[in-house]
Amino acid sequence: MSASHFLVTGGAGYVGSVVAAHLLEAGHRVTVLDDLSTGFADAVPPGAEFVAGRVQDTAARLLSDRTAPPVDGVLHFAASSQVGESVADPEKYWRNNVVGSLELVSAMRAGGVRKLVFSSTAAVYGEPERTPIREDARTAPTSPYGATKLAVDHLLTGEAAAHGLAAVSLRYFNVAGAYGSWGERHEPESHLIPLVLGAALGERPHIAVYGEDCPTPDGTCVRDYLHVADLARAHLLALDAAVPGEHLICNLGNGNGFSVLEVIEAVRRVTGREVPVVGAPRRAGDPAQLVASADLAQQRLGWRPERTGLDEIVATAWEFALRRRAGTTPGNDRAAPSAGTRPDAEDGTDNGSGPGTDDGPDERPHRGPGHSGNERERGAP
Ligand SMILES: NC(=O)c1ccc[n+]([C@@H]2O[C@H](COP(=O)([O-])OP(=O)(O)OC[C@H]3O[C@@H](n4cnc5c(N)ncnc54)[C@H](O)[C@@H]3O)[C@@H](O)[C@H]2O)c1
Repeated sequence: MSASHFLVTGGAGYVGSVVAAHLLEAGHRVTVLDDLSTGFADAVPPGAEFVAGRVQDTAARLLSDRTAPPVDGVLHFAASSQVGESVADPEKYWRNNVVGSLELVSAMRAGGVRKLVFSSTAAVYGEPERTPIREDARTAPTSPYGATKLAVDHLLTGEAAAHGLAAVSLRYFNVAGAYGSWGERHEPESHLIPLVLGAALGERPHIAVYGEDCPTPDGTCVRDYLHVADLARAHLLALDAAVPGEHLICNLGNGNGFSVLEVIEAVRRVTGREVPVVGAPRRAGDPAQLVASADLAQQRLGWRPERTGLDEIVATAWEFALRRRAGTTPGNDRAAPSAGTRPDAEDGTDNGSGPGTDDGPDERPHRGPGHSGNERERGAP
């Protein structure tokens, strides 16, 4: 693809910052739009222009600004993504994820920007009837979070058909690992790998393993961990593969499942440290196994994950955790924009602090407001 200009919403977050870094490395121009509700200004890669603001308030102005270089496509990561919080506060999720996406799509149409890659999620599938999960599997999200992502998928299908949008939804399973200075620093953290690393570092007293009686080889839940750099490559390929008038939906996963105990063992091997573990009862509604079929992504995007070994994934996350501790990654400066910031920010931060962190397997579905689980972006892989 020749050098283009992309708007990256949510580019101060975990996945968006890694994709923005990849776009810049590929020679593209990048503008990041992020309200810093869960992201960090210093995670915006050097070389990207940073606009602080909410998608729903700011995208229309950015995409119709005739004095700025035209935008060739949008990568839309900005969302609230804590499953437990979505159960407790569904309106926040419908407003931020669905209304935000609706405003973005309208702004794109008004501004003549006709290419969109959207961060969807395996949470749209709910409890799978079979694994590996294909894109034609039944969609039955078990949380408002998953429902809002599915609603946006439907929105994009209609927009492609009615108005010729070239749209790709990428349904991620469990994103993991780090890419140099860019890694996971969710607050609260609820993804398994950073939580187990936290236990190895002594930042957490232990890791709780919820249930060892699943119908899996070692009895613990199996999830599909995909390296964030593999995920980023898929976004660049999706930009190439997007076709006007089509809404392509692809799962993105490693294709291999790893159990909770395998993740803990990998952390012990990679770090050389002990990880204190405590047993806990299996939680209702926690699928035993969530593994993606990535066949369609291979066919349509020409994408295959390359960093598929658990030790390799954990090693990059460990390196990032150590850098963070040593202060050699960007700091935790959520408020102060980095150089290159365009100060036309809306305030509008919507801090997504959810219920407390959890240390079970990623992506558990939530059954209702009383459910005790509380993780970000788990409700599926
Ligand atoms: N991390 C995963 O394992 C995973 C799995 C499946 C899907 N996803 C999806 O991928 C996307 C990125 O996830 P992440 O883990 O990087 O999350 P993240 O919270 O680190 O990043 C989201 C970013 O969007 C920003 N944001 C939120 N609402 C906004 C708004 N209205 N306007 C502007 N900025 C806004 C936040 O400040 C944050 O920087 C999300 O859409 C999430 O639902 C993530």
